[in-house]
Amino acid sequence: MMGGGSLHHSSFFVLFFVMAHCAHGDLSFSASEELKLGSVIANIASDLGLEPGRLSARRARVDMEGSDKQFCRIDLRSGDLLVAERIDREEHCGEKPTCLLRFDLLLENPLELHRLSLQVQDINDNAPIFSKDVIKLEIRESADKGAKYRINAAHDADIGQNAVQSYTLQSNPHFVFNTQTTGAGNKYGELVLNKELDREEQKEMKLLLTALDGGSPQKSGTVVIHVIVLDANDNAPVFTEAVYTASLPENAPLQTPVLMVSASDADEGVNGEVTYEFSRLSDKSQTLFSLDEKTGAIFVAGDIDYEERSKYEVMVEAKDGYGLSSEAKVMIDITDVNDNAPVIHVKSLTNPIPENVSPGTEVGIINVQDRDSEKNRQVRCSLQQGVPFKLVPSIKNYYSVVSTGQLDREVVSDYNITITATDEGSPPLSSSKSLHLSVADINDNPPVFEEESYSAYVSENNKAGSTLCSVTARDPDWRQNGTVIYSLLAAEVNGAPVSSYVSVNGDTGVIHAVRSFDYEQLRSFKVQLMARDNGSPPLSSNVSVSVFISDVNDNPPQILYPAPEGNSFMTELVPKAAHGGSLVSKVIAVDADSGQNAWLSYQIVKSTDPGLFTIGVHSGEIRTQRDISETDSMKQTLIVSVKDNGQPSLSATCSMYLLISDNLAEVPELKDISYDEKNSKLTSYLIIALVSVSTFFLTFIIIILGVRFCRRRKPRLLFDGAVTIPGAYLPPNYADVDGTGTLRSTYNYDAYLTTGSRTSDFKFVSSYNDNTLPAEQTLRKSPSDFADAFGSADSSPELHFFSR
Ligand SMILES: *[C@@H]1O[C@H](CO)[C@@H](O)[C@H](O)[C@H]1NC(C)=O
Ligand SMILES: *[C@@H]1O[C@H](CO)[C@@H](O)[C@H](O)[C@H]1NC(C)=O
Ligand SMILES: *[C@@H]1O[C@H](CO)[C@@H](O)[C@H](O)[C@H]1NC(C)=O
Repeated sequence: MMGGGSLHHSSFFVLFFVMAHCAHGDLSFSASEELKLGSVIANIASDLGLEPGRLSARRARVDMEGSDKQFCRIDLRSGDLLVAERIDREEHCGEKPTCLLRFDLLLENPLELHRLSLQVQDINDNAPIFSKDVIKLEIRESADKGAKYRINAAHDADIGQNAVQSYTLQSNPHFVFNTQTTGAGNKYGELVLNKELDREEQKEMKLLLTALDGGSPQKSGTVVIHVIVLDANDNAPVFTEAVYTASLPENAPLQTPVLMVSASDADEGVNGEVTYEFSRLSDKSQTLFSLDEKTGAIFVAGDIDYEERSKYEVMVEAKDGYGLSSEAKVMIDITDVNDNAPVIHVKSLTNPIPENVSPGTEVGIINVQDRDSEKNRQVRCSLQQGVPFKLVPSIKNYYSVVSTGQLDREVVSDYNITITATDEGSPPLSSSKSLHLSVADINDNPPVFEEESYSAYVSENNKAGSTLCSVTARDPDWRQNGTVIYSLLAAEVNGAPVSSYVSVNGDTGVIHAVRSFDYEQLRSFKVQLMARDNGSPPLSSNVSVSVFISDVNDNPPQILYPAPEGNSFMTELVPKAAHGGSLVSKVIAVDADSGQNAWLSYQIVKSTDPGLFTIGVHSGEIRTQRDISETDSMKQTLIVSVKDNGQPSLSATCSMYLLISDNLAEVPELKDISYDEKNSKLTSYLIIALVSVSTFFLTFIIIILGVRFCRRRKPRLLFDGAVTIPGAYLPPNYADVDGTGTLRSTYNYDAYLTTGSRTSDFKFVSSYNDNTLPAEQTLRKSPSDFADAFGSADSSPELHFFSR
């Protein structure tokens, strides 16, 4: 028993829970009819347990079921349910004992529906009314005491206590008044003869009948009963039935027969002729039906609409020639025809929809109503294919419009969606509604550069402010979310801020040079640009721009050896025994430019003896052209011009002093050489140098001669030595020496340094083994070897080898 009891208990709770869930809190209220507009019926917020503020956030709204009327509204601030329109109980519910108005209370986010029912309470706002002002009653004088004469009841539109409660008849000696109820439930009154009439005494009389309702204050209506005393023996007509019923489809055409009533009269002749007429009939019914007064046939005379009223009750009176009458009731049931297409109402719509809503977001609520009944009001709703939305049936005939996929404004910025509703009638009716949904922008696209990286080429010595190139980034977002702003990312180039090199126009993306570039200082650099949109937060992307500076022939060749005139005095010794083709000296020049602009060519422009020496056009090597003879002048001067290959080319000249002698002592001029007296230290250096160099040179001459003896073909290769050009002679930042072919040679040269402060700059690299290659390989050094030798990793593609 205990177990059974607890089981019962728990299932009760489950059931309770399910019911509470489905019902979603039906709320019922009651209010009197005819309240002033704005009267408070109830507080919805407190009844639902919501804060009043939430009602506004959830767009609370009341809709009346199947009607455009709006009897109530919600004050969103206070949560009160207010009267919004006159509510007349009699208009809506007629004689129904309870009058309920049903509303849907709609909350969004999430969609929630509550049913509200408002019971409209009657107030005594209608007085009893008789259908006529005067009721004519013709009574035989022979009528017996107790005879009954039917009097149609007064009608009071109110109900219950407010309807007719009692009648009072003006006091008189002949009649009393009783009320009766028919089998069909209709009330009527009877005039009962209490004392026989005598026509000779009184031919007629007028009695006032008052109907009283039970309201407070009480209301009343009156009718005059005009009694005429007859002396003939008459009968009143009698209907074949007390209640006639008929059924009629709505929209029946005019003149459609509905039914026929019939009453017979026992009298003969004119007195037995029965005529029919509607007795109590509301104005509306009078326009809808007509009654043939002779035959009792009822026809359709107006527009019958089921949705307006599905049932009519009319009273028909049959009268004979004397005016004696009786009444019957005709009930006409209207049947529904599928004549109303469903109507789609958009209850709420988020428009525009942000493009980042997640799939499954509710963007709208629609409600579908069909005024027909039963199957004719069963509606199916659908949404066309091919849009990222669907309809989800919600509560009752509500549907949610829900997104099914990710929206992208940059692909589709608006949708036209068509909702179609079809009922289940036969034939079915349908209707459709188009909604225009726009997609609102979200800043979901960063600007994208048209190219992965950009390169700009500019010749050196450009003007500050000149345009280098322009970058473009595209952002498909809307307005400021798609507005691109360009900027430089802070960085350093050669230790200076990048902004001192280039600037970018924030709007156009055009990049300008801020300064004039020098190829010899800087050959290329990279800057990072950012394109940012104006969204909040902004999105950005970066791109690198490489700026390549190209060379211009703006540096003349610079002669390193022999040193420029005026600074020093150099003389080469040429042994008298030198044969034709012997290497005597070499002009060494560099050019800070590169490529063709640094491709140097050498030319002897003037010489003491034009036939004696030649210069290698690209090597700068000065050789004897023929064997030296005794007749040749001892002092030889060559003016050498060094030209680069630029357009236009630049050149430099130098003088080379040659002394044909085997012995320094033979050189008288040397004593005359003017030098700085004060610098006697230098002079002694010079003498030491001259002596050591000539000794050195003589040794070589001997070797030359010896080798020439043995292998005449390769005399000059023995000159491969270990003298290199000191770094101090290179121009600042000069790193491309290898390309010119003028400096990398490992030739031996003899220099007489006489005066000048650069003495100590010369270094004799005795252990120059790495670069002192075997004779055969001298001319085949790879570019990287040179790069290594000069401590630069920048291996130029424009390497030229001029040595032979
Ligand atoms: C939607 O309909 C409107 C008006 O009918 C039209 O102007 C618009 O182009 C349509 N849009 C789409 C995406 O079909
Ligand atoms: C830009 O995007 C933001 C969100 O990222 C949005 O709130 C704003 O409305 C958008 N602006 C425009 C002009 O569409
Ligand atoms: C661009 O570079 C800046 C600075 O280095 C950095 O803060 C930013 O995140 C970069 N943006 C992108 C999209 O890489």
